[in-house]
Amino acid sequence: MVLRRFGARSFGLLATVLCASLAAHSASAQTASPDTAAAPAPAAAGPAQGDLHRGKELSYTCLGCHGVDGYKNAYPNYSVPKLEGQHPEYLIAALQGYRSGDRSHITMHSQATTLSDQDIVDIAAYFAGKPLVSEHKSVGTPPQAAALCVTCHGQDGVTIAPMYPSLAGQHADYLTRALDEYKKGGRKNPIMGGFVASLKESDIEAIAEYFSKQAPALQTEKRPFSSLTAEAEHK
Ligand code: HEC
Ligand code: HEC
Repeated sequence: MVLRRFGARSFGLLATVLCASLAAHSASAQTASPDTAAAPAPAAAGPAQGDLHRGKELSYTCLGCHGVDGYKNAYPNYSVPKLEGQHPEYLIAALQGYRSGDRSHITMHSQATTLSDQDIVDIAAYFAGKPLVSEHKSVGTPPQAAALCVTCHGQDGVTIAPMYPSLAGQHADYLTRALDEYKKGGRKNPIMGGFVASLKESDIEAIAEYFSKQAPALQTEKRPFSSLTAEAEHK
């Protein structure tokens, strides 16, 4: 079980947060076994069962950014995050965060405010695809400053629970940006706010670099539409 990997020191710090979150998520975390990965059907999404077909239809605008490999946010300049391989539960929480303003990003806020709760569930199911399953091998050793992080995000960056994001293979510049935002308050998540408070810029860069190199890796969504078919499909 996950707790075995904690050092005694980390355990004390984490116990409060984790007891609550593990209790809530242990049931779904257990479904992320290698057997599930081998199954042809998408892994069961727990309570948030989305309609993939509807999600795909709704994803058209999103793919203009999230479906383009290496696409950048301008001002400031950093890569648009990869979404494929996250859990739908996490993507739902992220979209709700942009919608409510807990995460500040003008474009994502205006995108998310056009979505109903059901739209968010469907779109999350579509973007998640098949959530990453850990192979319990990491590339290199985590930086010292990531000792606590791996208890939730996984030594190999594959999350231990569907409510937490996987970081494996995510763009390093996006990870840096996200961590800066938790630190400066642009993202108001209280769990992450607490964990980043003591990180130095050099820690953040080392952590982002480490997780961006892990596998299995998150992917940029493939665009099911070409510029030629898009018009026809969306009339
Ligand atoms: C103009 C480009 C653009 C469009 C269009 C766009 N996004 Fe985003 N998206 C971004 C950027 C940039 C970020 C990172 C924002 C930040 O720094 O928090 C992001 C973040 C996200 C995240 C959070 C990912 C994570 O790892 O936490 C999700 C989920 C997401 N977008 C889904 C969507 C969906 C669904 C749509 C369509 C309804 C959409 N996006 C449309 C650029 C875009
Ligand atoms: C108790 C579990 C837990 C621990 C420990 C933890 N995180 Fe997180 N992490 C989360 C949750 C939950 C979120 C989603 C927060 C939100 O909704 O914005 C998150 C989000 C993130 C994100 C944003 C990912 C994205 O796709 O936008 C990064 C990067 C991250 N964490 C890195 C870290 C680092 C680095 C540490 C250690 C310093 C750490 N986390 C410790 C639970 C945890």
